[in-house]
Parts: sequence; structure tokens; C-alpha cells
Amino acid sequence: MTCYNNPLFFLLLSLPFLPFTHPKLTTNYYHKSCPKFSEIIQSIANEKQHSRPSTAGATLRLFFLDCMVGGCDASILVTSNSFNIAERDADLSLSGDGFDMVARAKMSLEIECPGIASCADILATATRDLVVAVGGPSYEIRLGRKDSLQSKSTDAENQYPLATMTMSQLVTLFTSKGFSIQEMVALVGAHTIGYSHCKEFSNRLFNFSKDSESDPAYNRQYAAGLRKLCENYTEDPTMSAYNDVMTPWKFDNMYYRNLKSGLGLLATDSAMYGDQRTKPFVDMYANDQARFFKDFASVMEKLSVLHVKTGRKGEVRNRCDSFNQLGF
Ligand code: HEM
Ligand SMILES: *[C@@H]1O[C@H](CO)[C@@H](O)[C@H](O)[C@H]1NC(C)=O
Ligand SMILES: *[C@@H]1O[C@H](CO)[C@@H](O)[C@H](O)[C@H]1NC(C)=O
Repeated sequence: MTCYNNPLFFLLLSLPFLPFTHPKLTTNYYHKSCPKFSEIIQSIANEKQHSRPSTAGATLRLFFLDCMVGGCDASILVTSNSFNIAERDADLSLSGDGFDMVARAKMSLEIECPGIASCADILATATRDLVVAVGGPSYEIRLGRKDSLQSKSTDAENQYPLATMTMSQLVTLFTSKGFSIQEMVALVGAHTIGYSHCKEFSNRLFNFSKDSESDPAYNRQYAAGLRKLCENYTEDPTMSAYNDVMTPWKFDNMYYRNLKSGLGLLATDSAMYGDQRTKPFVDMYANDQARFFKDFASVMEKLSVLHVKTGRKGEVRNRCDSFNQLGF
């Protein structure tokens, strides 16, 4: 009997292809074809972060949403045209800084090594470099992702989390992408940087219930401050608040510490501490930043290989905002 007939043989064969390590991605993918790949991205990321401190948050969210919708394939970077409403125009309120970050890196890389560096690899690498730039942990980004041949706003439906979702909906969504509850809690620690627009949490501030003007889950002074900040948000929809009111520019575990004192901005943030499924992890990360950094780094590595496309399943775009051939 040969081992080929043995189901165990196939099981063993498939083991190395399980999560984390995507079979076709390698850490030295551009070693020969574009040796300055990492160096160029890192220097542009640092430069851009220096001139626009909102870049790190904008890019991190862009990357997360790109990966959630059909995998980390830069589909979120494509602009709509008269034939097609692209993924980025699903109602995501994305900040321009993330797109600009990738466009700048792509421009430099096209000069250095034309047609080689994919937008998906650039976005994944720049995100890591920006997390590090604002004080977060580093992690390995494997390379060799191809860019998608499709980007449709309808593909985003039900694929990314909303601040209006219940914890059960969030758990269903994240587990459908292969993340455990603990990994979800670690990932959302990304809300230690960046902003949210008033409309994302205004329901918690005004006319919350017949007993309470604001959500009682908020610290009272925090709620009063947010009400003031957002008083004109209907006239000025750009009004927004820091996700982490204590250390808004620093990547740390303050997000979790905030949740414990009523300083969670979005309803879903407060729910992380209010729900028994997630609370133990909030407590753990609030008490142990090193543990948060370790888990965040490892779950970001996992996120970064979600449904990546290799070979003929994608292309290396010439420009990150459009397909090489007219496509959808
Ligand atoms: C629990 C699920 C999550 C929900 C419901 C959620 C929801 C949101 C919302 C509504 C905003 C505000 C967007 C705006 O008004 O511009 C936001 C911002 C942000 N989110 Fe999340 N998010 C979740 C998980 C994550 C994860 C897993 C990451 C990354 C790993 C992430 C990264 C960010 C960042 C960095 C910002 C700030 C963006 C900026 O400053 O431009 N979020 N999130
Ligand atoms: C709150 O509700 C009251 C009565 O239901 C209404 O008159 C008022 O305009 C509402 N305020 C806001 C800010 O929506
Ligand atoms: C809201 O509008 C009022 C009247 O125009 C103005 O006095 C106030 O400063 C505005 N508040 C904020 C937070 O911009």
C-alpha cells in the first residue's frame, strides 16, 4: 500500500497551507526585482505621517476594510467610473490620507522598479510601518499579493463592521472571516488611534432614551464634551472625535483602559466591555500592554494574508486607483 492512498498523507500535506503562512507569499519576494521596496515605503510612510498625523489611522482602517471585503487585494483603492461603483464608495467614510499614502509610495516604486510592486503589498507594508511609527508593535509582512481585477461597492455589503451592530452580529462577522472572539478584541484595539465622525455615535448623545439624553454607558463628563463637540454635526458632517480621547496619537493599550472608564466612543466599543464574551479580553489587554502588542501583531499578520490573490488571479496595477485594462 502506498502512502498516497492514506488519507492521513493528504492531511499532512495540507497542514503547511493552513492560516498565517500563505503558501505563495514570501518575506523576500522583492529581494531581486525591487530591492528597495521596503526602504522606499518606510521612508514615505514616515515622511507622510510626519506632515499628516492622521495618516496612520486612515491607512490602518483602509487596510482592514480592504482585507474584510474580498481579501487584502487593494480592491478598496479603485475609483468608481461611469460603468461601476467601486468598493471605496460603499458608505465607509474613508479618509483621503490613506489613499494618498499608497499613491505616493506607488509613484516612487514605479520609478525605482516599474510594474513590479503590487498595491496590495504596498498597503499592507505601509500599514505595518505606520503602526510602528505611532508606537505600536512590528510584525512580518509576507509579500507577493496581486491586485484585484474587480471592485464593486455591492461586494462590501455585510462584509465590514458597523457601529450599529450588536455583539452577536460582530462575532458572526469576525468568525466568518476566521477570527476568534479574542482576535476580534485584539484587532479592534486599532481604535487606539484615529477618529470617528459624529454621525457614528450621535444616537448615543442626543435623545438616547426617554430616561436619559445620553447613553448612560458613557462617563458623564465625556458625554457632555462629545455633545458640545457634535452640537452642529448635522450642518457640518465633518465633525469628528478621537477614538482614544486620552492618547489619540499613540498606539498603546489605552483603548481598553478607556472602555473600563466609560470612554469608549462607539456603541460597539462600549459593548466590548459590556458583553461577557469580550470583557475578559478587554480586562487582559487593559492590564497588559505587552500581551496586547503581541496579540495585535500576530492577528495583523493573519489579517494581512486574508484571501490574498496570487498568480493569474490578479495583476500588478500600474496605478493603484484603476485596473490596467478597463474592468469592473
Ligand atoms: C468591532 C468592529 C469595528 C467597528 C464597528 C468599527 C467601526 C468604525 C467606525 C464607525 C469608525 C469611524 C469611521 C469614520 O467616521 O470615519 C472607525 C474608525 C476606525 N477604525 Fe474601526 N471598527 C471596527 C474594527 C476595527 C478594526 C478591526 C480596525 C483595524 C484593525 C479598525 C480600525 C479603525 C481605525 C484606525 C479608525 C480611525 C480611522 C481614521 O482615523 O480615519 N476598526 N471604525
Ligand atoms: C429630541 O426629541 C424631542 C421630542 O421627541 C424633539 O423635540 C427634539 O427635537 C429632539 N432633539 C434632537 C436633538 O433630536
Ligand atoms: C455651533 O454653531 C454655533 C452657532 O453657529 C456656534 O456658536 C458654535 O461655536 C458651534 N459649535 C461648534 C462645536 O462648532
